[in-house]
Amino acid sequence: MKKTLLFVLFLGLALNFTACKGEKKEEKAKEPAKIEEPAKTEAAAPEVSPEEKAFLAVVDKIDPANKCTVCHHATNAGVGPNYTEVAKVYKEKGGNIVQFLKGNAEAIVLPERFNEMQANLEVTKKLSGEDLNAIAAYIRSLE
Ligand code: HEC
Repeated sequence: MKKTLLFVLFLGLALNFTACKGEKKEEKAKEPAKIEEPAKTEAAAPEVSPEEKAFLAVVDKIDPANKCTVCHHATNAGVGPNYTEVAKVYKEKGGNIVQFLKGNAEAIVLPERFNEMQANLEVTKKLSGEDLNAIAAYIRSLE
């Protein structure tokens, strides 16, 4: 009787042992690696030429009312002739932009509307030669 009891006890232990061993290891389901979307690149900014950069630095120093960029654009129509047009006329007629901005040369692009530009010459006359050259170089770069 004692032996049978021991045997049953032993069997019970043995069964318990195997049951534990058989426990399934839960494998963590691996989450699929998230594929990072590449950051959307912003629309490429229009390239600013070194000439334009230097020109804009000069315009920065000018009072708002006389800012060249208010009336003149590179290629679009504005209050004043666009700079591409100014560059073309100055090239064709052999004009000197710096001399015009110093008040030493007559208007050759739209002389009949010079009165609209005249007040700005009071500003440009006071600019340094370096600044005037930067303005002229930018306008010429648009030829
Ligand atoms: C309020 C508007 C206005 C502003 C500001 C202005 N302009 Fe003008 N500009 C005009 C008009 C209008 C003309 C056309 C009349 C003329 O040809 O002189 C003109 C003409 C010109 C011309 C051609 C001149 C020619 O030979 O006929 C140049 C060069 C010029 N501007 C440069 C500049 C620069 C540089 C600045 C900034 C310092 C400037 N303008 C600011 C209105 C403006």
